[in-house]
Amino acid sequence: MRKQIAAANWKMNLSYQQAENLLDEILNTEIILAPHQQVLFAVPFPYLIMANSEVADEEGYFIAAQNCYEKKSGAFTGEISAEMIKSVGVNYVIIGHSERREYFKETTKTLAAKLDACLENNLIAILCCGEALAIRERGTQNNFVQQQLEESLFHLSATEVQHIIIAYEPIWAIGTGKTASTGQAQEMHQHIRSVLSNKYGREIAGKISILYGGSIKADNAKEIFLCPDVDGGLVGGASLIATDFIQIIKALKA
Ligand code: PGA
Repeated sequence: MRKQIAAANWKMNLSYQQAENLLDEILNTEIILAPHQQVLFAVPFPYLIMANSEVADEEGYFIAAQNCYEKKSGAFTGEISAEMIKSVGVNYVIIGHSERREYFKETTKTLAAKLDACLENNLIAILCCGEALAIRERGTQNNFVQQQLEESLFHLSATEVQHIIIAYEPIWAIGTGKTASTGQAQEMHQHIRSVLSNKYGREIAGKISILYGGSIKADNAKEIFLCPDVDGGLVGGASLIATDFIQIIKALKA
């Protein structure tokens, strides 16, 4: 079975103390993960080392960075390379979140370079895609998401692409309390899988986890995760509340 993943995206939230407390509360709760289930916490850069040591003994729990820069090293004040993330023992990184695309002008070309940097450093990238409301209203979301994937992902080989997790996050659902319906989520996830299948073949497409993101809450996670092509979620707001995120972890496909 494909990996089923509950990924917390803390974004730019929580003090160091709050972050430690939140992790402690979740990790001290008895949650039995099946071998195909994983939990990721995408934490702010300064907390990576602390968070990584918190999950070190926890089977199935991993830490992720929320971004990395595509260059190897050099005079790029304020940036963090894939190699730096790897060097503190972290193995996952979110790439191309819609907030990065919108506020920091990341393009599909930049994201392609970031994926290369991740692969060179054995980091698993969670590549985000998803359309804005106007595109959904025009009904052109399938073509739009396909183009995002073609431009950022399709230069990868069949071996490389298996080190990528995809997160479909319709922008109109992020932080708005407006979740995609199960029908909308499944339709897009199936489309993404068929796009991957056309490029890399059915077998490989069948192995890639595709997460849904956008207003996942404790009370709607289960129905979304049950969609056949949804392999868990990337969770913002609800991942900041221990009891809610625990419910979301428990909603992963058994
Ligand atoms: P949200 O954020 O769950 O708060 O909608 C999801 C995300 O942006 O990853």
